[in-house]
Amino acid sequence: MKIAMVGSGYVGLVSGACFADFGHDVVCIDKDQSKIDRLHDGIMPIYEPGLAELVGGNVKAGRLTFTTSLAEGIKGADAIFIAVGTPSRRGDGHADLSFVYAVAKEIGENLANDAVVVTKSTVPVGTGDEVERILKDSGTSHTFSVVSNPEFLREGAAIDDFKRPDRIVIGAEDDFGREIMREVYRPLYLNESPILFTGRRTSELIKYAANAFLATKITFINEMADLCEKVGANVQDVSRGIGMDNRIGPKFLNAGPGYGGSCFPKDTLALLKTAEDYDSPTRIVEAVVQVNESRKRAMGRKVLDALGGADAARGKKVAMLGLTFKPNTDDMRDSPAIAVSQALTDAGVEVAAYDPEGMEQAKPLMPEVTMVDDPYKAIEGADAVTIVTEWDAFRALDFDRIKDLAKEPVLVDLRNIYRAKEMREKGFYYTSIGHGETGQGDRRKGDRRRN
Ligand code: UGA
Repeated sequence: MKIAMVGSGYVGLVSGACFADFGHDVVCIDKDQSKIDRLHDGIMPIYEPGLAELVGGNVKAGRLTFTTSLAEGIKGADAIFIAVGTPSRRGDGHADLSFVYAVAKEIGENLANDAVVVTKSTVPVGTGDEVERILKDSGTSHTFSVVSNPEFLREGAAIDDFKRPDRIVIGAEDDFGREIMREVYRPLYLNESPILFTGRRTSELIKYAANAFLATKITFINEMADLCEKVGANVQDVSRGIGMDNRIGPKFLNAGPGYGGSCFPKDTLALLKTAEDYDSPTRIVEAVVQVNESRKRAMGRKVLDALGGADAARGKKVAMLGLTFKPNTDDMRDSPAIAVSQALTDAGVEVAAYDPEGMEQAKPLMPEVTMVDDPYKAIEGADAVTIVTEWDAFRALDFDRIKDLAKEPVLVDLRNIYRAKEMREKGFYYTSIGHGETGQGDRRKGDRRRN
């Protein structure tokens, strides 16, 4: 099969490299000349574990090529994937589809054979219909079918998610579309990955429903965590206790500082807009968006409380460990770290931060924060240390060294990496998410019970 992937960003590049690895002949297309030049030199535009090796191996085997020319790239392709960005449109939260439609137009004008055009970008319900209209309007004489094939990969685990998916969703309106897509995914079909064929609009909605549901699950457990702190319960045990019920499932029940990233925040907003447009409110998702937004800033207040309250915090220093919205990525989009650091610097706290991959991306987003190249440098002279992202590098910190370097042994663990009892034994004032039964203490009241 010959596959053209239009857009060599996160989804396009990972999908293109994985399709090539299945044995398909793949061309990745991107307008950005410097990105294509770098890809030719083996330099990845994003950080994703295993991607450079996967791309390199398939380029070498002659199955993966790159070009800036859409007309060249789509020539002879059985399937043309649209994998360009759909950012939130400024001001209203609607997904901005201008890139998708511009690509559709260019495909129509350059189509040189019969092909299936597949939207892989996350696009609102009805986008496939509009792409079909654009292709028709281009006057092409070739047969085409517009298919929806949403992507469910997670940053940091993208290659594994692509190669071992829970399911593949294909929204097609005709046999031509279904047959070509069956061929495209045949290698996975042989692996017994389930393929769900649906109508095109249904497939488009499945993507948003999945992300909104996951965002809801996280937000639900985050609120339970707050309640745990008040009633003297342990949220990690609550997660286990409900997750063992097969109907609920154990995943995505880790309480934390709120979800971030390029998908959940954007897709929940876009779903709200669709619901509004169709006069079918989704109140649960509305609440999720609001609760998550206020939670991020509330996490800043949690750190201030550990410093003895906002008044006492002025002029103090905090070491932030982890900036990206989750580990194994350099992505800072909507990361809780941004709101946490903002709340701290607004209160006159000095912040020094370290992240294994995200500091370059973080710098322009948090100009008042000092970035350092080692976690212990950030901790030097700190009145409190806060873990915002659960990178492996923070799972076995040297606490004796931290006690020597920091001004105060205070740890605010927003990812529940450590155990309260052990930290207390090490002589730390330790506070985390949703652990009411060990008591979080209140430093404003001079409460040192936990030390
Ligand atoms: C998410 C979905 O998981 C993917 O299935 C989907 O394909 C992708 O969006 C997308 O639409 O492109 P991603 O944004 O890469 O993937 O990251 P997740 O691993 O889902 O994490 C999202 C956020 O939720 C992170 O900030 C993470 O820290 C947070 N989270 C996740 C929690 O706070 N608790 C959890 O239990 C799980």
